[in-house]
Amino acid sequence: TSSLRPLYKAAQVRELDRRTIAGGIDGFALMQRAASSAWHSFRSRWPQARSVTVLCGSGNNGGDGHVLAALAMQSGLKVQRISLKPLEELKDDAYRAAQLASQAGVSCEEWHPATVLSGEVVVDALLGTGLNGEVSGRYRRTIEAINAAPQPVLSIDIPSGLAADTGAVLGVAVEAACTVTFIGDKIGLHTGDAPAYTGEIDFRPLSVKAQAFFDIPPTAWRLDDALLGEAFTPRSRTSHKGRMGHVLVMGGAPGFGGAALLASQAAARLGAGKVSLATAADHITASLVRCPEVMAHAVRGGADASELPHQADAVVVGPGLGQAAWGQAVLQSALQASVPLVVDADGLTLLARHWPDMRRDDWVLTPHPGEAARLLGCTVEEVQADRPEAVQALQRARGGVVILKGAGSLVAGPGGLMVCPYGNPGMASGGMGDALSGMLGALIAQRGDIETSAWLGTLVHALAADRAAAACGERGLLASDLASYARELINP
Ligand code: ACO
Repeated sequence: TSSLRPLYKAAQVRELDRRTIAGGIDGFALMQRAASSAWHSFRSRWPQARSVTVLCGSGNNGGDGHVLAALAMQSGLKVQRISLKPLEELKDDAYRAAQLASQAGVSCEEWHPATVLSGEVVVDALLGTGLNGEVSGRYRRTIEAINAAPQPVLSIDIPSGLAADTGAVLGVAVEAACTVTFIGDKIGLHTGDAPAYTGEIDFRPLSVKAQAFFDIPPTAWRLDDALLGEAFTPRSRTSHKGRMGHVLVMGGAPGFGGAALLASQAAARLGAGKVSLATAADHITASLVRCPEVMAHAVRGGADASELPHQADAVVVGPGLGQAAWGQAVLQSALQASVPLVVDADGLTLLARHWPDMRRDDWVLTPHPGEAARLLGCTVEEVQADRPEAVQALQRARGGVVILKGAGSLVAGPGGLMVCPYGNPGMASGGMGDALSGMLGALIAQRGDIETSAWLGTLVHALAADRAAAACGERGLLASDLASYARELINP
């Protein structure tokens, strides 16, 4: 769809660079184009700045920085240019770029631990897509100095120290106010640690010809809120609840009622025609009082719930399920039905433990990194070091659609990999995952297609949290606060 921006890995963008150069634009001209775009980005963000510090690394990312320094000088700014390598040791285009800046009259200092960054704004042109391992030595100390300085930072192509393919910080990374990125947007700018480092992302395609992209399938796509307008069209005037989908939420073991209640309420708010809840008997009164629209059924042993899934269009199983016999029996009931499933929370832990080889095409798994690690049999650190690979490995092993939650949520399915650029730290609170699973259940029950529903549910959840945070702040955001904003979003 037209609303999705393609995202690439570093090697793919390098290939695009190569093809552009092979197509007749010489490398130095491309570097000048990138630097001039970066300069426009700088100017539109800091129109009043009278001075700038440009920190240049030894490769072509540094080359972009040298050319930008020359452009800033020509526009009348006071320029402090700092290089991590003596200029005479630079190679090829980076050397030419440094010469160009010197000829424009920009002096250059070599970096030293005592260097004071004097510009009003700092430009980070240290490391781009050429980053090849943990940042150490002078690069590390320079990045630490940039982060300790009070000035805002513009990073060129990618904040130095952030890995373009994964969004993981390799030791240390620049915390930018804005990142201007070129030719192809990088997946590593949108997931993992990236949201804490990139600041605003300004994507500049540099007029690279469409044919350069031939045969380079994007690694992922960036979800966009414009998708909601395409997906949520007005309902037919003759709609009735029997056609709007029936969701069954299964969860809430004795003593763990809240999560299942939250999931069932979220399902009701996302427009499901009917919502049922199968939960331990102790939670029935609470559910009826809190949300009488939800039809609550008491489940005693677990196996007595086995008929309910057959009556639903989608089943959400896991919130508050517990990991004991009750939860295992309820999950077994859900797995026996041939109805689309959303498996979350304890449902995932039980799946990892008791159904290690089960795969299905009609389920959505929604692990956070800890649950993903359990399902993959690895550590949380390994999941976070390469989130795109982790979610795709899980999808390959288990089938269906997998949503890896956390900053820059990833959705992997047969249609490819999606990255959600929305959401905020207020979502780091109990119940948020339960709300997501309920929303997903409601969308699947209404739409049928699990993959589109997974994209839309992830989007609505994150955007509702952003609207709720914009209204009252991030701290103290509750999962149940999302309901009214989610409702606005599905009625665009
Ligand atoms: N610690 C310390 N140094 C490191 C580390 C690390 N962990 N990782 C890499 N480096 C060093 C490398 O050794 C290399 O230095 P060297 O040349 O002295 O050996 C340098 O960092 C390479 O880093 P980059 O500058 O990121 O890599 P590259 O030179 O490939 O440039 C590029 C990257 C193309 C500029 C990209 O990030 C970019 O900005 N693209 C935007 C478009 C653009 O400007 N295109 C035109 C570029 S010109 C051309 O392609 C010829």
